[in-house]
Amino acid sequence: MIRVPPVGPLDAQIMIIGEAPGREEEARLQPFVGASGLELTKMLHEVGISRADCYITNVVKVRPPGNDISEFFLDKACKKPQQIILDGVVELKKEIEQIKPKVIVALGNTPMWALTDRRGITDWRGSFLKYGDAHLIPTYHPAAVLRQWDWRPVAVHDLRRARQCVDNPPVPPAYNFTIRPSIEAVLRFLMTVRATADATPAGLP
Ligand code: URA
Repeated sequence: MIRVPPVGPLDAQIMIIGEAPGREEEARLQPFVGASGLELTKMLHEVGISRADCYITNVVKVRPPGNDISEFFLDKACKKPQQIILDGVVELKKEIEQIKPKVIVALGNTPMWALTDRRGITDWRGSFLKYGDAHLIPTYHPAAVLRQWDWRPVAVHDLRRARQCVDNPPVPPAYNFTIRPSIEAVLRFLMTVRATADATPAGLP
């Protein structure tokens, strides 16, 4: 098995994680240098991220048979990982400990699952998740973008959020829940809502 090592500066603020190398990556011993890598580089450029500034890695460092990651699982639904995946996840977590990125971009289901145990990239993409101290933003894998071209602007939007997150991380809202309010409290609250609506010029949100 040929191992494709990660690339990028050890003090990178952004870490980009794919699934596993493909044929081109295996031939050149670098992640994301094939067709999906080229598209990734273009999308990063469009949002002002220099690829050279990012640490780029994969959950598994070797190419799965037929470039099909499900070959490294015991089932087609990719719920039962083989040892090679489990070892890859352990190694990936060590890389994160070493690099200490501010922002992690998880490209597709496999890295999102590896770090958050979540599945369903369509449901989760663009979310601000956390892995340790790092912000984790999942988005579509560039290979999926190449197959489904109308996902491209969505992936670009997510990458833009990732760039903004480096300097302006999201501030969680200060939630203030009132459990079982009195009817007077509800009426007072509704009055403030109406007063705000009345004070808002027509046509403005
Ligand atoms: N796809 C990946 O997930 N990683 C690569 O390095 C190349 C293609």
